[in-house]
Amino acid sequence: MRKGILSIGAAAAALTLGLTACGGESGDTSAETSSAPSAAAGDAKPGKIGVILPDSKSSARWETADRKYLEEAFKTAGVQYDIQNAQGDKTAFQTIADQMITNGATVLMIVNLDSGTGKAVLDKAKSQGVATIDYDRLTLGGSASYYVSFDNTAVGKLQGEGLVKCLTDKKADKPIVAELNGSPTDNNATLFKQGYDGVLQPKYDSGDYKKGPDQSVPDWDNTQAGTIFEQMLTQEPKIAGVLAANDGLGNAAISVLKKQKLNGKVPVTGQDATVQGLQNILAGDQCMTVYKAIKKEADAAAQLAVSLAKGEQPQASGTVKDTEGNRDVPSVLLEPQAIFFDNVKDVVADGFVTKDELCTGDFADKCTEAGIS
Ligand code: BGC
Repeated sequence: MRKGILSIGAAAAALTLGLTACGGESGDTSAETSSAPSAAAGDAKPGKIGVILPDSKSSARWETADRKYLEEAFKTAGVQYDIQNAQGDKTAFQTIADQMITNGATVLMIVNLDSGTGKAVLDKAKSQGVATIDYDRLTLGGSASYYVSFDNTAVGKLQGEGLVKCLTDKKADKPIVAELNGSPTDNNATLFKQGYDGVLQPKYDSGDYKKGPDQSVPDWDNTQAGTIFEQMLTQEPKIAGVLAANDGLGNAAISVLKKQKLNGKVPVTGQDATVQGLQNILAGDQCMTVYKAIKKEADAAAQLAVSLAKGEQPQASGTVKDTEGNRDVPSVLLEPQAIFFDNVKDVVADGFVTKDELCTGDFADKCTEAGIS
């Protein structure tokens, strides 16, 4: 095994470190597997990289952003890869991992569906000499060699501060705040909640805000989120602000608010800067979202994976504590950004969504108003 001297600590470093094309063999004809150019003389053939995405319903990001950016990075590096989506099925998740390893993956990157099944997959891969990366979600008690994500507590803090800003703008007096949290099995959802409760709890304690219903949405399921929020609003019709943990959950709450003509009056938060979330912001129905530059996340993770596939041992300058496994996991954490009506244009400028996708139909005028050109 060669020792690599790849240091990935900061976002900037991850971006500036060029992905070098490396040798490999073409031959895998599967649609989702790239064929790499032939090896340069003397270069060892890099192994295959397997990626398992969690689902395509809990957020649009996995299929529209993560898959696209990872694919681009692997193609640029000229490595063989296979990206599959477990579609929320934990058994399928394990089967896909087994198949990837049987088909020669030497690096496995996963977005776990929960820490238990994630750990089983990671431990098995490790026992077979496969290098592992936790992508976006940390597997608690797991054995991934690296973790690449955003500062997820910071994501939650931006959501909490965003809701406070929107309630202040509306001059809300002692508003009742409902919390629609992410999946209880996703460590990120725990971190988001820590972040926004850090902002909201002092307001509840001081009596500035009144704590309303607070519930988690299993598997981030948007349909269930609608049912849950409907019950919340029946129980507490005076809800005046909604901390929704991502754009999908936010949209579910907005759909319920619309039925009561409360959309736009009750600020709702989100996350992921999806086209739907940004359009809800342009329409005035959603107060804010959190933009996570997924290209940077995918690039940083792909760079680690490519290095591992070449048999190197890349260095990540940061670490994150896995409290359950009592382990410091070498990590790359990126910074999120809060998005309100006035800076939706930043997301377009960054190339994450296009004007064509966003400014359709009635949104065209709103786009002009928001300075999106
Ligand atoms: C991700 C979010 C996403 C959510 C639902 C979280 O782990 O960090 O970006 O919205 O899962 O898929």
